[in-house]
Amino acid sequence: MKNVHIKNKATPFFFHRYEEKIDYALREEYKKLTNNIYDTHKYYLGWADENGEKLETITGKRLRPNLVLLGAEAVGGNIEAAVPFAVAIELIHNFSLIHDDIEDMDELRHHRATLWKLWGIPAAIISGNAMLKIADLATNKNLKINEKVKLEASYILSSKYLTMMEGQFLDISFEKKTEISIDDYLDMIQRKTGALIEASLHIGAIVGQNKFKNNFEKIKSIKIIGKELGKIFQIRDDMLGIWGNDETGKPVGSDIEKKKKSLPILHAINYSKGRYKKELNDLFSKKRNLNDKEIKFILKIMDHLKTYKYCENILDMTWKNCYKEINSSSIDENIKSDLRDLGKFLLIRNI
Ligand code: IPE
Ligand code: IPE
Ligand code: MG
Ligand code: MG
Repeated sequence: MKNVHIKNKATPFFFHRYEEKIDYALREEYKKLTNNIYDTHKYYLGWADENGEKLETITGKRLRPNLVLLGAEAVGGNIEAAVPFAVAIELIHNFSLIHDDIEDMDELRHHRATLWKLWGIPAAIISGNAMLKIADLATNKNLKINEKVKLEASYILSSKYLTMMEGQFLDISFEKKTEISIDDYLDMIQRKTGALIEASLHIGAIVGQNKFKNNFEKIKSIKIIGKELGKIFQIRDDMLGIWGNDETGKPVGSDIEKKKKSLPILHAINYSKGRYKKELNDLFSKKRNLNDKEIKFILKIMDHLKTYKYCENILDMTWKNCYKEINSSSIDENIKSDLRDLGKFLLIRNI
């Protein structure tokens, strides 16, 4: 299919190298799946509207499958061998979003109604579970890779999506707590988001590796880079949750409303003093969602505390570590340049 990049103009240029391959492979997984349940997947992946009418564009950025293929290329490896894992990771990611929208009670994603909003919560739970299974099956095909390598990649994949679930559970449990440190937060985001982003680059490199080359150092660097990029991704996501505009396609302000402990909110809670500190503690101890007036008050405190700048500084520090690792690694110069473009995109993205 042509023009799959239509909605994703702002993504790094290297996405163009892989996007048709990824889109084709994802659609192939659904070729033989005709049950009605898969209409929900086609809707969520952006291939159809809620009535099953075909759409020409895709919705998500497809970040993770692009990282899998970049990971494979970074070891000078076999991109084709990495495609089933790219498919699996994108499906695992979308499964997590289908359930995340229920967990967060969000009604909008990519400017469209969320799956539970259209089909109801019970159907959305089953739909998400089914997508996870399709992901597992995608990696269980008779791939042209060494069995040991396949086992290692499958093990990393399963253990990282388990870590993602741990992060999601922590994220929800934080809603009811006020005493969360920045370290608790970093641990939580590394699980809920970082684990799958790190795994994407790492698994790409593992599956793509050429057994006749020594890839150990490269794979080690790729994993470290993936971990830092995962942090950057979620911190920027948290910022968009407060100061994002319509481009995100997600409801801006809902993190404050639901008392999520995103980085800007934690900064406001942990760094405010005196009357503000007390008022924030009272607000975040409430057993209900916050209202518009309360949200505006919290935004005012964030302004006063320069919370935006604080988040930018954390992003800068994380990017410095990542940049250092990219520069000192033995990865090819072309791929290093792709990784730098990716970092720059993740630091300032609005989508
Ligand atoms: C959103 O991820 C969920 C998080 C992990 C914060 P993306 O922003 O990558 O979602 P899509 O793939 O573009 O829909
Ligand atoms: C989503 O985190 C993380 C996973 C689905 C694993 P968020 O809840 O912060 O992401 P958005 O803002 O809804 O995309
Ligand atoms: Mg959410
Ligand atoms: Mg969530």
